[in-house]
Amino acid sequence: MAATQKRQGLDAQFYLPADEFFAANAHVALTYDDVTLATLYSEILPRDTQLETRLAEGLVLNIPIISADMDTVTESRMAIAMALNGGLGLIHYNMPERQQLSEVSRVKYHVPGMIPDPIKVGPDQYVGDVVKLIEERRYGFSTFPVVDPDGRLVGLLPGHVVKPRYAQRKVAEVMTPRAQVHTIQKKDLGRDPIARADKFFTEHPGIHKLLVVDEEDKLRGLFTMNDVERIAQERKSQFKPARDAQYRLICGAAVSAVRNAFGELDRERILNHVSALVERGVDVVAVSTAHGHSKGVGETVRLLRDAFPKLPIIAGNVTSAAGVEYLARCGANIIKVGQGPGSICTTRLVAGVGIPQLTALYVCSRAAASLGVTILADGGINKSGDIVKALTLADAVVCGGLFAGCNEAPGEIIEISGKLYKQYRGMGSLSAMKAGSAARYGHENNPNQKVAPEGIEALKEAVGSVDRVLAQLIGGIQAGMGYLGAATLAELKKKARYIRVTAAGMREAAPHDVIELKTQQ
Ligand code: XMP
Repeated sequence: MAATQKRQGLDAQFYLPADEFFAANAHVALTYDDVTLATLYSEILPRDTQLETRLAEGLVLNIPIISADMDTVTESRMAIAMALNGGLGLIHYNMPERQQLSEVSRVKYHVPGMIPDPIKVGPDQYVGDVVKLIEERRYGFSTFPVVDPDGRLVGLLPGHVVKPRYAQRKVAEVMTPRAQVHTIQKKDLGRDPIARADKFFTEHPGIHKLLVVDEEDKLRGLFTMNDVERIAQERKSQFKPARDAQYRLICGAAVSAVRNAFGELDRERILNHVSALVERGVDVVAVSTAHGHSKGVGETVRLLRDAFPKLPIIAGNVTSAAGVEYLARCGANIIKVGQGPGSICTTRLVAGVGIPQLTALYVCSRAAASLGVTILADGGINKSGDIVKALTLADAVVCGGLFAGCNEAPGEIIEISGKLYKQYRGMGSLSAMKAGSAARYGHENNPNQKVAPEGIEALKEAVGSVDRVLAQLIGGIQAGMGYLGAATLAELKKKARYIRVTAAGMREAAPHDVIELKTQQ
C-alpha cells in the first residue's frame, strides 16, 4: 500500500494537471511541441471514445473540428464536407455579402447523396455532340437528364444510346420519354432523403437513377444508386453528420466589424447581413478579427446579441483572460483563441505580439470556465497530436492549413515539377486584404494604402478529400484519448497530465535515425 502510494506520488511529482503545470510554468509561454501528455491507466479503447462537443445552446458538433473562415479554406464545398463528417465549416467573408448568403444556402439545402445540379442535355442536341462532350470533359458517366430551355424535364438519355453510331440522331429521338422516367418530388424526400432513395432503388430493380423534380416538373437533382449505397454504408460509421433541428447540415459564417465612410461601425449593414444569414438558416456567426479585445469587435458582438438573443456567436481572437471576459460580457458564447500561431501568420514577427498557443489556451480556458463560455483553439495545428493537446483545454479546434490542400478547399490544383499543390494564404496577406479582408486586421479596404501584411501567401501539398484527412485526425484524437483512459472530451480535460519536453525530446518524438520510405499520409 505504502509502496503504491509512493509510486503514485512519483507520477504526481512529474506529470502535473493543468492548473499546477501552467502555474509552475507561468514565466514562459508554451506551445504544442513544448509539452507532451502522460499516459494513464485505461479501460477505454480508442474506437469507443466519444468526440461530441457542445459549443453553445443549440450548437453541438459530433467531432470537435472546425474549418477556418479563410478564402483558401472554407466555402460551401468545404462546409458541406465538414458537417457531413460531424464538424463545422465557417464560410469566409472575403466575398460579396450576397455570395456569402448563397454559400450558406448551398450548405443548408444540401441533400446528401443528391447531385443538386446534374449535367443536362437538350432534346434538340445531337447524340454526337453528347459523345464529344463526354470526351472533352472526361465524364465518367453517360446517362443525362434531358430538359427544355425552361429547365423542365422532358426525358432521360440512357448511356446505351450515347454511342458514335447514333451520332446523327437527335436526343429527342432516342431518349426515354418523360412519362417513363422515374422521378420523385423534392418535397417528398422527407427528413431522410437517402433512406427514401434507397427504398426506391430496392423497389425498382434495374433502375440506377432517380431524378428529383419540383412542382413545375423542373429538374432539381439526381440520385444514383452507387452514391446512395456508399452513403448508406457510411451511415453505420461512428460519427454522424452535424445537423440542425430540421435535419439540415449545420453551417457557420464569418462576419466583419465593417465601418462606414466616417469610420463608425456600420450597424445597419451588419444587422441587415446577419438577418439575411439567419433567414438562410445559419447556425452560428463568427465575428472574426485579429484583435478581438477591442471596442469595434465588442460593439459588433453586443449589437448582434441584442438583435439575435438566441444566435450562437463566436468572437475573437484573443489570448488573455481579460479578452475572454470582455467578449463574453458583450454576449459571445464561443471565444476564438489564437494570435499569431497560424501556419501562414506573421503577426508575431510584424507586430511583436501574440502568445504561444498552449499557454494562451490555458489562460483563456480558465476565464471561459468561470464565465460559462466555450473556447476554440485557432491556428498552429499541424498534426493530430496537437489537436489532442489543444482539446485538453479547448472545446474544439479551428484548422486552416490542414484543410487547405483538400479537394474541397476553394482554388485550383497547381502542378509544380510533378507535385500537386493548392494555394493557401493568410487573411492578413496583402492579396487577401486586397480581396476584402483588410478590416479583420484593422486596415481600411483601400488597396493603395500602405499596410503591413500580417500573413503570407503559400502553397499546401494537395492531400485529397476532407474525408480522408479527417479520418486521420479523428483516429489520432481517439488514440490520444485511449492513452489517457478518457471516454469523452470532458474526461480528457480532467485527466490530462503535462510535462515539458526539450528540443531533444521533440526530436525523439518524430521519426529519427532512419531513412524514411513513406510518410504517414
Ligand atoms: P493554421 O495554422 O491552421 O491557422 O493554418 C489558421 C488560422 O490562422 C489565422 N490567420 C491569420 N493569422 N495572419 C495571422 O496572423 C494572417 O494573415 C492570418 N490568416 C489567418 C486564423 O485565425 C486562422 O483560423
